Amino acid sequence: MFEDLLRGWDGEEAVIRYDEPSGAWIFVCVHSTALGPAGGGTRMRVYEQPADGLADAMRLSQAMTVKMAVADCERGGGKAVLAVPELPTGEKRRALLLRYGQLVTALGGTYRTAGDMNITPEDLDVVHETCPWVYGTTGAGGNSGRGTARGVLHGIRASIEHVFGSPDLAGRSVLVQGAGSVGHDLARDLLAEGAVVLVSDVDEARAASTGAEVVPVGDALTTECDVYSPCAVGGTLSAATIPQLRCRIVAGSANNQLATRADAELLRAAGILYAPDYVVNAGGVIQLVDLPRRRGVRRHPRSRGRAASCGPHRAESRRSARVTPRARRPRSASAPCRGSRRPSRRV
Ligand SMILES: NC(=O)c1ccc[n+]([C@@H]2O[C@H](COP(=O)([O-])OP(=O)(O)OC[C@H]3O[C@@H](n4cnc5c(N)ncnc54)[C@H](O)[C@@H]3O)[C@@H](O)[C@H]2O)c1
Repeated sequence: MFEDLLRGWDGEEAVIRYDEPSGAWIFVCVHSTALGPAGGGTRMRVYEQPADGLADAMRLSQAMTVKMAVADCERGGGKAVLAVPELPTGEKRRALLLRYGQLVTALGGTYRTAGDMNITPEDLDVVHETCPWVYGTTGAGGNSGRGTARGVLHGIRASIEHVFGSPDLAGRSVLVQGAGSVGHDLARDLLAEGAVVLVSDVDEARAASTGAEVVPVGDALTTECDVYSPCAVGGTLSAATIPQLRCRIVAGSANNQLATRADAELLRAAGILYAPDYVVNAGGVIQLVDLPRRRGVRRHPRSRGRAASCGPHRAESRRSARVTPRARRPRSASAPCRGSRRPSRRV
């Protein structure tokens, strides 16, 4: 299964480790370092089978490559997945995160992490104890959900202007699917702009805590609204679901919203404007990667002013494997990617 996934992937390399003490599989996927060291969050999740975690990391790392390029960040795309048998807590969680930090450190800066699903800034503080390549700790950057929510708000506004001729959100109805760190902030900002906000979350109490009208989870796709904003899970737009949509615009933070590329055409044919996820949800990476600039550290001129426009390489463990799926683009340890010749500032 791993072999098939690796053969069909166009990324640079994948690091695979089985973490025996926790029973977790750790996947670090570096999709591209063309623009700089690969950046992307770490996701902790229970998957049906380990290969699903690898597939997720591959897809997400690919999306990060595009997102970094579009946001004009000096980073390539990467992503890590901790595929755990169950979400660990306490000392077990801490020990896993420390070992994970050691693995990322061993990659020499080729991959730099932040948080993703089920990984908090406090978790990243722990990873930072054994790894310098961490963004979004409590002391530096924090939760990127805030920046992501701002970006989605700008994306929704731009989409509304495109479809309705005015960027005014007052009176426009927006259904936010998922009231987590992005969706919660987004709902609050939309309410402040006078939008009619509907929120759906598997955790109904969380949805209600936004102060918006709560929509049952099963009705999220079929509820009439101007904007459907997926801020929970990816893959909600497919040949099966698109005919059910009753919105004019899709603009949300979830990564990989389209089940397949062809679904973009289905949306177009249905008269629905799709704001690409990797553009709309880039606010978080801009928030974190841009942090050194805001702290006065000199960066490449190309990256200035971007935020405002958001509308040992072989694994050291016997149980780790580092794989370069495509022979045409190996990057040897002696030829590090741009920006990784020396340890970057700690953030
Ligand atoms: N946090 C960021 O900076 C960031 C950046 C880019 C993309 N994203 C993506 O945006 C999405 C949301 O991120 P987040 O940080 O807010 O995650 P989160 O884990 O904080 O929140 C997700 C919310 O969705 C809810 N949920 C899960 N499945 C659902 C379903 N089927 N229907 C309705 N609600 C459901 C959960 O209960 C939770 O409240 C994720 O797909 C994430 O990958 C996040």
